[in-house]
Amino acid sequence: MPDATLVLGIETSCDETGVALVRIDGDRSELLADVVASSMDEHARYGGIIPEIASRAHLEAMVPTIERALAQAGVDRGQVGAIAVTAGPGLVGPLTVGAAAAKALALGLGVPLYGVNHVIGHAVVDELVHGPFPERVMALVVSGGHSSLLLVDDTVRVTELGSTLDDAAGEAFDKVGRLLGLPYPGGPHIDRLAREGDPTAIRFPRGLTAAKDQADHAADFSFSGLKTAVARWVEARQDAGQEIPLADVSASFAAAVADVLTAKTIAACRRHGVDTLVVGGGFSANSQLRELVAVRCAEAGIELRIPPIRYCTDNGAMIAALGAAVVRRGLPASPLDLPVDSSMPLTHVLA
Ligand code: KG4
Ligand code: ZN
Repeated sequence: MPDATLVLGIETSCDETGVALVRIDGDRSELLADVVASSMDEHARYGGIIPEIASRAHLEAMVPTIERALAQAGVDRGQVGAIAVTAGPGLVGPLTVGAAAAKALALGLGVPLYGVNHVIGHAVVDELVHGPFPERVMALVVSGGHSSLLLVDDTVRVTELGSTLDDAAGEAFDKVGRLLGLPYPGGPHIDRLAREGDPTAIRFPRGLTAAKDQADHAADFSFSGLKTAVARWVEARQDAGQEIPLADVSASFAAAVADVLTAKTIAACRRHGVDTLVVGGGFSANSQLRELVAVRCAEAGIELRIPPIRYCTDNGAMIAALGAAVVRRGLPASPLDLPVDSSMPLTHVLA
């Protein structure tokens, strides 16, 4: 018998096949199982995600990952009461594989299907760790594909205040990683090097923080100018036959990114009178951002909620958590012919 409080979430927007089970208990969501299979090893040698390889890997991993999640939760598939799946944004091929699996399960089990937004899931996963969101929170979602500032009401109503105009934070780290000759993805390598360097060694530009940008782009980010500045600095050194101080370049670059993200986010909290900030997405694993945002939130009297790193990178728990939030509020289920949307708007919690 399906149990309406048991939500199975499926995530396949990029290279991770994630399946999780969440149980709804009053206004709380409890994580029962969370299993992730990644195809990153197959992409690393190409220096980027190859969608066809990711799609095939999702196809191979899907059934075993669902089985493992059910076993971990100790539930029978017939007990699942609702299926949540990432409808977008993400890569079309990978999204389609997850959606097909979710539709088949929903149809076979006779339970509702919810196509949910991946980016909002990156914020809402925090409810599994730190409990229900207050009425209004600010969410900074930073990953390889997104740097977005969202105003979130009642967990499921989202206003997009701003986003990156060019590279996402993780993407900028990966591109700088490439120009410094680091393995893909460069983000974690720069983080590690930065911890040994001097963040004040080089003063890199802080995009869109000048007074003249604030009127139009108060909550938008831009990192491509910063990336170009790092490239110029490195080239000039190379042309002069000098060695590149990798730790100092990494630390100075990471400090600039953390400074911009944090300053604009705290300013947005102040502008909107919000006193809780949730930070999510794969880039929120970044130590320089974590440290700076913690210091500045404490100074500003803002409660900071960042889930542990395993819930920041792509996973099924974020989709099951958002599915549970949607089910709890009685929002309408998605049609069984739910289309995936590679550029799903961030204001849409459901497809
Ligand atoms: O959310 P995620 O797993 O996948 C996307 O949806 O993009 O984020 C991955 C991104 C990559 O760009 C990766 O380099 C970056 O997050 N990243 C980091 C760190 N860990 C992951 N960047 C900087 N420092 C880190 N510690
Ligand atoms: Zn993501």
